[in-house]
Amino acid sequence: MTGHVIDPYFHRSPGGEDVFSIENNAIRFGPGVLAEVGAEARALGLRRVALFTDARVRLLPAFDTLHAGLRGAGVDVALYDSVAVEPTDRSFLAGAAFAVGAAVDGFVSLGGGSVIDTAKAANLFSTWPADFLDYVNAPIGLARPVPGKLKPHIACPTTFGTASETTGIAVCDLLDLRVKSGIVSRRIRPNLGVLDPTALASLPKLVVAANGFDVLSHAIESFTARPFTLRAAPGEPGLRPLSQGANPYGDQPCLQAIRIAARFLERAVADPADQEARDNLMFAGLLAGIGFGNTGNHLPHAMSYPVAGQVKAYTAPGWPADEPLVPHGIAVVVNAPAAFRFTAAATPQRHARALEAFGAGVPDAPGDIGEALAARLTTLMRATGIPNGLSGVGYAEADIDILADGAFAQKRLVDNAPLPVTRADLVALFRAALRYW
Ligand SMILES: [Fe+2]
Repeated sequence: MTGHVIDPYFHRSPGGEDVFSIENNAIRFGPGVLAEVGAEARALGLRRVALFTDARVRLLPAFDTLHAGLRGAGVDVALYDSVAVEPTDRSFLAGAAFAVGAAVDGFVSLGGGSVIDTAKAANLFSTWPADFLDYVNAPIGLARPVPGKLKPHIACPTTFGTASETTGIAVCDLLDLRVKSGIVSRRIRPNLGVLDPTALASLPKLVVAANGFDVLSHAIESFTARPFTLRAAPGEPGLRPLSQGANPYGDQPCLQAIRIAARFLERAVADPADQEARDNLMFAGLLAGIGFGNTGNHLPHAMSYPVAGQVKAYTAPGWPADEPLVPHGIAVVVNAPAAFRFTAAATPQRHARALEAFGAGVPDAPGDIGEALAARLTTLMRATGIPNGLSGVGYAEADIDILADGAFAQKRLVDNAPLPVTRADLVALFRAALRYW
């Protein structure tokens, strides 16, 4: 047999993996569903929960709805509203210390990816204490397996895109090492994700644009990732990684997420009152999250970590302006056109399917597909106010070496690309990402 029966992209390789996995959590999606979280918590047997949020979300109507629902269901709430905008190893551990002191039997998180990731880490370190680097991805940390089950966690996003409510991933800055890394384990995946699109009403335009591109990039990266069949077969089933590579299941939500995001992104940015567009983007974000949670991202995300971590003076309209910050979705998409132009050369037919879902014509010559995908992305970036590449967020030629070092250290992501990637390749990609128009 020379090909996988489902799709020839998943061709068998000697010693390669033959099995793909499907792992999802429970989800509730719909306007007003935040009011049901109290009943959901009771159904999980929870009597006293740590409610994680941040100072901004604490003031939104969504917080009052959720809080009242929990109290109305007779669930005690220990409120932790000091989650950092960009979490760090220290802020993760501060959350864990709070959870220990509050003696809770479960977690509810309300906010963006930072809040949900902090609740995951607080749950992990309060339940299974360890040195911080024990659970962090190799080679930066030791990537030790989480020893057992965590407490129940209900994750309620007030934004969209990170899809942290669906994934077993928590990302943070490691302050002393000056790198961004994360913890990846199916054990830290929330038990339940609760997505209420009415919570998106207050999002500023550039936040919608940045998160929409995060969704698109999750979906395109996961769809174009290295096929799972090229990964070495594991010695035993329990060693299969969450980031298993592209697979027939992950393809489905990814392609649909690309179609929906391509159709609604510009509308959702242009008009905050366009609830249809924002509902659809939140659903696309969920689909892409299911896609990358079962597949894994590759180069645009690997490159985004140093772009966010090495920020100098850039501040983004719509985010807190008190410190320099390249928001995650922007840090990803400024790399995406250069990265996909590069990866399309390796697997043009696969990229052509992503381009088709994106609503663009597919060029006849395979060598033109990467350029067409990059052009489609940059057109949409310009239309939605995204900065012009790395130079638009404050980087120049002189920064490329340090950016390449940071991206090359993201081994899990770099290895998930559809071709081998060297440090020199990353230097060339960052150079190509400096400006697009
Ligand atoms: Fe992302």
